[in-house]
Amino acid sequence: MLEIVNLTKVFNPSTVNEMVALAGVSLSLNEGDYVAVIGGNGAGKSTLLNAIAGVYPPDGGRIEIDGKDVKSLPEHKRAAFLGRVFQDPMMGTAGDMLIEENLALARRRGKFRTLSWSISTAERNEYRELLSGLGLGLEDRLKTKAKLLSGGQRQALTLVMATLRNPKVLLLDEHAAALDPKTAATVMEITDRIVGSHNLTTLMITHNMHDAIKHGNRLIMMHKGTVVVDIRGKEKESLTVPDLLAQFQIASGDSFTDDRALLG
Ligand SMILES: Nc1ncnc2c1ncn2[C@@H]1O[C@H](COP(=O)(O)OP(=O)(O)OP(=O)(O)O)[C@@H](O)[C@H]1O
Ligand SMILES: [Mg+2]
Repeated sequence: MLEIVNLTKVFNPSTVNEMVALAGVSLSLNEGDYVAVIGGNGAGKSTLLNAIAGVYPPDGGRIEIDGKDVKSLPEHKRAAFLGRVFQDPMMGTAGDMLIEENLALARRRGKFRTLSWSISTAERNEYRELLSGLGLGLEDRLKTKAKLLSGGQRQALTLVMATLRNPKVLLLDEHAAALDPKTAATVMEITDRIVGSHNLTTLMITHNMHDAIKHGNRLIMMHKGTVVVDIRGKEKESLTVPDLLAQFQIASGDSFTDDRALLG
């Protein structure tokens, strides 16, 4: 579903600020792969997701989504088959719009919109059904403005919006990192449910090692712009944080440093 070959990205080339953010990343994801991405500050995690989303062109390498080379597709065109959720709960939703209007916009994304568009009863029922799956009571608050929701509720709504049109790839960049631990755990559970129910191919950056171990069927660690550890299946299920740190050290020759990583 996602094929990345030897992807490179250098910021500010040939200047004193030159930074090799991606130094040849290769990564192949099957449909339904749910991959936790972990790595120290500046390892290239966000750059990888941004390159996939088309925020900026890579300097070299190839990105294929569902067998299609996306190089010539600008960001807004790729958005039609990507879902994205960022760290900031304010970013994914329009605060001054109602919950149902936010959902309706996500539903109509990239489609022709007339000036007056209305939400049908059938559509509203569909939203109610989707929201009830979150277990947060949002199904009874369709007419509430998004800005009145808590950060966790807002991230949950953003997740529903990002996956409403069954994206080919879901990109999550520390989407639970700004939430308190209990709310973050709820949002992670909701993520598992949404990813599982749609069998979504997902890349999820997290700073929380426990989350990286607990969620998804695969875990990659990045370091200095490359993937240094790739663990999946049974091996991932029995993984512990010390295992992970040891594997990182062996693969990278460095010890793992991350200001925000929760080592437990
Ligand atoms: N737009 C940009 N312009 C210049 N340098 C950038 C840009 N985006 C990222 N970088 C640099 O590229 C490197 C990789 O950054 P990136 O944001 O991908 O790291 P990350 O793994 O997401 O780190 P963090 O855990 O801190 O979010 C860093 O050194 C960063 O400063
Ligand atoms: Mg980042």
